[in-house]
Amino acid sequence: MGRTFNRTLVEVVEGDITKIEVDAIVNAANSKLRGGGGVDGAIHRAGGPSILDECKKHDGCPTGESIATTAGDLPARYVIHTVGPVWYGGDRAEADMLASCYFSSLARAVDRGCKSVSFPSISTGVYRYPFDDASRVALSSIRDFCARDTSIERILLVAYGAKDAGRYSEILEEFE
Ligand code: APR
Repeated sequence: MGRTFNRTLVEVVEGDITKIEVDAIVNAANSKLRGGGGVDGAIHRAGGPSILDECKKHDGCPTGESIATTAGDLPARYVIHTVGPVWYGGDRAEADMLASCYFSSLARAVDRGCKSVSFPSISTGVYRYPFDDASRVALSSIRDFCARDTSIERILLVAYGAKDAGRYSEILEEFE
């Protein structure tokens, strides 16, 4: 199930993001860029130590921004580490910060000539961003980016579990 935003195919898929072959895998990191749990833990475990070695060359990453590193042993060319906002109820510019994660990650992917990018549902785990709200922010940001830049051919929104995948697909349907 997918939608075309301008010239980019956007699809919801269910599964473990570390198993999906794309040019760039986006990581839901934290500002220290030293690994963690959830997607962050899965990516570092599956990708191996070369990812962390490269992360250590950076002095962290501010919320809303993104940094590209090697993908190590993952089926990708790059990991793009982005730091989502922690949810505090919605009045601390969380939506803007989350939108910035998607925009900056796509910009890093374009900079590196990537044609396919996969995203987890940034901030919807440990950072407690409500899933439906986060999905709408993600899709709006991706649509706006694709309206201006057609170089990415395919974007996969990877939901972890059937429930999230079903909900994400329903929300994608809202976007003509
Ligand atoms: N593949 C795809 N999606 C996954 C995977 C996986 N292997 N593991 C978890 N997810 C999903 C979660 O179900 C959630 O919907 O990714 C989404 C993001 O959850 P988190 O990984 O907890 O990320 P986030 O909420 O952005 O919190 C980031 O958690 O792991 C730490 O170091 C990380 O401090 C940072 C914080």
